[in-house]
Amino acid sequence: MRETFRATLVLVIVLFFGAAEFCSGRNTSFSCIERERKALLKFKLCFHDPSHMLSSWKGNDCCEWRGVSCDKNSRYVVSLQLKGSTADQPYWYSIGDQQPQLYLIDDIDEIVSSLLKLRYLEHLDMSNNNFSGNLIPPSFGLMKQLRYLNLSYAQFRGRIPSELGNLTRLCVLDLSQYYYGRLKVDGDIQWISRLSSLQRLDMSGVNLSHASSNLFQVLSMLSSLSWLSLSDCNLKISHLPSHNHLFNFTLLGNIQHFDISQNSFHGPIPIFLQNMTSLTFLDMSGVNLSLTSSNLFQVLGMLPSLSWLSLSTCSLNNCHLPSYNHPFNFTLLGNIQHLDLSDNLFQGPMPIFLQNMTSLIVLSLASNQLSGSISNSIWQLSKLESIDLSYNQLNESIPNSIGQLSKLKSINLYANQLSGSIPDSIGQLSKLKSIHLSYNQLNGSIPDSIGQLSKLESMDLSYNQLNGSIPDSIGQLSKLKSMDLYENQLSIPDSIGQLSKLESMDFSGNQLRRVFQIASGNFLS
Ligand SMILES: *[C@@H]1O[C@H](CO)[C@@H](O)[C@H](O)[C@H]1NC(C)=O
Ligand SMILES: *[C@@H]1O[C@H](CO)[C@@H](O)[C@H](O)[C@H]1NC(C)=O
Ligand SMILES: *[C@@H]1O[C@H](CO)[C@@H](O)[C@H](O)[C@H]1NC(C)=O
Ligand SMILES: *[C@@H]1O[C@H](CO)[C@@H](O)[C@H](O)[C@H]1NC(C)=O
Ligand SMILES: *[C@@H]1O[C@H](CO)[C@@H](O)[C@H](O)[C@H]1NC(C)=O
Ligand SMILES: *[C@@H]1O[C@H](CO)[C@@H](O)[C@H](O)[C@H]1NC(C)=O
Ligand SMILES: *[C@@H]1O[C@H](CO)[C@@H](O)[C@H](O)[C@H]1NC(C)=O
Ligand SMILES: *[C@@H]1O[C@H](CO)[C@@H](O)[C@H](O)[C@H]1NC(C)=O
Ligand SMILES: *[C@@H]1O[C@H](CO)[C@@H](O)[C@H](O)[C@H]1NC(C)=O
Ligand SMILES: *[C@@H]1O[C@H](CO)[C@@H](O)[C@H](O)[C@H]1NC(C)=O
Ligand SMILES: *[C@@H]1O[C@H](CO)[C@@H](O)[C@H](O)[C@H]1NC(C)=O
Ligand SMILES: *[C@@H]1O[C@H](CO)[C@@H](O)[C@H](O)[C@H]1NC(C)=O
Repeated sequence: MRETFRATLVLVIVLFFGAAEFCSGRNTSFSCIERERKALLKFKLCFHDPSHMLSSWKGNDCCEWRGVSCDKNSRYVVSLQLKGSTADQPYWYSIGDQQPQLYLIDDIDEIVSSLLKLRYLEHLDMSNNNFSGNLIPPSFGLMKQLRYLNLSYAQFRGRIPSELGNLTRLCVLDLSQYYYGRLKVDGDIQWISRLSSLQRLDMSGVNLSHASSNLFQVLSMLSSLSWLSLSDCNLKISHLPSHNHLFNFTLLGNIQHFDISQNSFHGPIPIFLQNMTSLTFLDMSGVNLSLTSSNLFQVLGMLPSLSWLSLSTCSLNNCHLPSYNHPFNFTLLGNIQHLDLSDNLFQGPMPIFLQNMTSLIVLSLASNQLSGSISNSIWQLSKLESIDLSYNQLNESIPNSIGQLSKLKSINLYANQLSGSIPDSIGQLSKLKSIHLSYNQLNGSIPDSIGQLSKLESMDLSYNQLNGSIPDSIGQLSKLKSMDLYENQLSIPDSIGQLSKLESMDFSGNQLRRVFQIASGNFLS
C-alpha cells in the first residue's frame, strides 16, 4: 500500500514538474483544452482582483496563464496555484499587514461549478484569499481527483462539510485559520478517516471543542499521516487518547510533526506521546502542563528522533526539569536542536542539564526568573546559533567565554540585570548578525573588537551605563542596518559616516560632544 502510494506520488511529482516545465516553454504547439479555458474564465469572473493577480488570464493557451499548470501530454489543467499572498505570515498577522489578492464577489457555487469542469485538477491552492466568510461548499467533495487542497487563511467560516471525506486521494489538507473559531467541526468526525491517503493535516485555529471524543481514534486510522497540526483548536483533555481506553497506540507511530500548541486543556503530559516514536517536531506551547510530575523529560527522552521542541508558556517550574539528583539518562536529550522553554516559571541559576544537550542550535529561556550568572552551562554548546535569555534576572557579568560560541548568529540578553563590561571576546563571534543587550547595567566602554563583527546587521545596546567613545572600528560594520544606543554616556566617532547600510539609528540620551552628519545625510543630531 505504502509502496504503490509512493510510486504514484513520484509519478505525480514527475508529471507535475514536467507540466510546469512544458508550460513555461514559449514555443508550444498545443494550446489548452477549450472547455477548461472557458471554465477558468468563468472562475476569474467570480473574483474582485485588485492586485491583478489574474491579469495574464487571457488569450488562447490557458496553460500559460499565471498559476495554471497543465499536463504535458494531455494538456488538461492539473494544478491551480493561486496563493493570495506569497510572503510568510507572522503569527500575529493582522489584516493591515498583508492584503488578500482575490476577493470572492460571486456565489461560491459558481466557483465550484467552474472547478468541477477541470476534471484532472490535482493541486488546488487558494490560501490567503478572501472568501468573505462563506461556508466551504459541500460540493468541494466532488473534486475526487484532488491530491492537494489548501484553503488556509481564506476567510471561510462555519462547519467543515463532511463531504470532504469523499476526497479519498488527498495527500495534503490545509484548513488552518488565523482567527480561532471561524471554522468548526461539530459532532462526528468519522469522515476524516476516509481520507486514507492523507500525509499532512493542518486544522490550526479550527474550533474542535464540540468534535466527538474519538478524534484521535479517527486520526489513528490515517496510516500515512506524518504531519498533524491541531494548534489553537480548543481541544479538551477528553479528546486525547488515554491508556484507559481501547486505543491502538502503535498507530500514532508514523507521525513526525505534531503541533497541539495553544489548546486550553490542562493536565499532565499526555502519556501517549511516548508511543509517537517517529516524532521529530513537537510543539506544546501554551498548554498548561503544571500538573505533570517530574517525568516530563523522561517521557520526552523516549522520543529518539525528537529535534524540535517547544514547551513555551506551559506553566513549568524547576521541579519539571531533569536534575543530576535523579536517575536520568541525559544522552537521550542529545538530539534536540531547537529548544524553547520561554515564558515559564523557572527560577535560580540556569538549568545545568543544558550542557548535555550538545546538539542545540536554537535555545530560548526568555521570560523566566533565572538569576545569577549565564556562564555555567551553555559555553559547551558549540553548535549554538541563537540564544535568547531576555526578560530574566541574570545579574553577573557576561563572561569572556562567550567568545567560544563561534557559530552564534543571534544573542538576546534584553532586560536582565547584567553588570560589568561587554567582554572583548565578543569580537570572536564572526557569524553574529544580531546582538541585543539593552536594559541591563553594563558599564565601561564598547570594546574595539566590535569592529570584527563583519556580519552584524542589528545592534541594540540602549539603556545601559556604557561610556567613553564608540570605537572607531565601528565604521567597519558594513552590513549594519540598525543601531540603538539610546540612554548611555557615549560619544560618537567620525567613522560612523562609513556605515552605508544604516537604516535606523537611535543615539539620543547620550552625551553628544559634536554635531555630525553621516554620509547619507539622513542622520543629524
Ligand atoms: C523554440 O524554443 C527553442 C529553445 O527554447 C528555440 O531555440 C527556438 O527558436 C524556438 N522556436 C520557435 C519557433 O520559437
Ligand atoms: C474579506 O471580505 C469581506 C467582505 O467582502 C470584508 O468585510 C473583509 O474585511 C475582508 N477581509 C480581509 C482580510 O480583507
Ligand atoms: C498552505 O498555504 C499556506 C499559506 O499560503 C502555507 O503557509 C502553507 O504552508 C500551505 N500548506 C501546505 C500544507 O502546503
Ligand atoms: C460524499 O459524502 C457524503 C457524506 O459525507 C455522502 O453522503 C455522499 O454519498 C458522498 N458522495 C459521493 C458522490 O460519494
Ligand atoms: C466553538 O464551537 C462550539 C460548538 O459549535 C461553540 O459552542 C463555541 O462557542 C465555539 N467557540 C468559539 C470561540 O467560536
Ligand atoms: C495495532 O496496529 C498495528 C499496526 O497497524 C497492528 O500491527 C497491531 O496488530 C494492532 N494491535 C492491536 C491490538 O490491534
Ligand atoms: C506505548 O509506550 C509504552 C512505553 O514505552 C510501552 O510500554 C507500550 O507498550 C507502548 N504501547 C504501544 C501500543 O506501543
Ligand atoms: C496552570 O494550572 C495550574 C494548576 O491547575 C494553575 O494553578 C495555574 O494557574 C495554571 N496556569 C495558567 C497560566 O493558567
Ligand atoms: C543512555 O541512552 C543511550 C542512548 O539511547 C544508551 O546508549 C545508553 O546505554 C543509555 N545509558 C544508560 C546508563 O542507560
Ligand atoms: C553531562 O555533561 C557533563 C559535563 O559536560 C558530563 O560530565 C557528563 O558526562 C554528561 N552526562 C551525560 C549523560 O552525557
Ligand atoms: C546576583 O543575585 C544573587 C541572588 O539574587 C546575589 O547573591 C548575587 O550577589 C548577585 N550578583 C551580583 C553581581 O549582583
Ligand atoms: C562597572 O561597575 C562596577 C560596579 O558594578 C564597578 O566595580 C566597575 O569599576 C565599573 N567599571 C567601569 C569601567 O566603570
